[in-house]
Amino acid sequence: MKRIVIFASGSGSNAENIISFFSDNPSVNIAAVLTNKSSAKVLERCDRLGVPAFYFNKPAFKDSNAIVDFLRGLQTDLVVLAGFLWKIPENLIKAYPNKIVNIHPALLPNYGGKGMYGDRVHKAVKDNNETETGITIHYVNENYDEGATIFQAKTVIEPSDTPETIAQKVHRLEYEHFPKVIEKLLS
Ligand code: GRF
Repeated sequence: MKRIVIFASGSGSNAENIISFFSDNPSVNIAAVLTNKSSAKVLERCDRLGVPAFYFNKPAFKDSNAIVDFLRGLQTDLVVLAGFLWKIPENLIKAYPNKIVNIHPALLPNYGGKGMYGDRVHKAVKDNNETETGITIHYVNENYDEGATIFQAKTVIEPSDTPETIAQKVHRLEYEHFPKVIEKLLS
């Protein structure tokens, strides 16, 4: 049995998609979802889906070993960041080398780094008149969006696209590929 713990800060549609994808796979368990935002919609999703979910605050995350201990207690094999906005502290990276993966809604190394998340990414892509964008799934290291790339997929941007329609296209790629890449990493 492989155990995944998902970190999410917001809506959690990727978290839900991953949970659904593995729901009929007896060898993969979503052991928990963790969030740094007590009002995050991902908590409602976990309620509905029957997945244990937990909130933590900044001191627990940054200034203690509480999260590492928690993950070890769950016998976590893979940590999946799905819309998680805080930088991962060194103790966590050291405890799970190459076992923490993130999805970024653009083709890194472009449109990454601190402050580049969510709609800001899609707006910047549109403002620069890009003709394509996509997703990057990558390992997490101590710098935002800089770990080794595992997988990328692209989508075309039409002149008529808006940041909103670009976001929809990117989400489609995320839903299609992220669970499959996770499955491969676990095998
Ligand atoms: C996704 O676009 C993901 O790539 C990015 O944050 C967004 C999270 O969306 N890291 P959701 O919370 O999964 O709906």
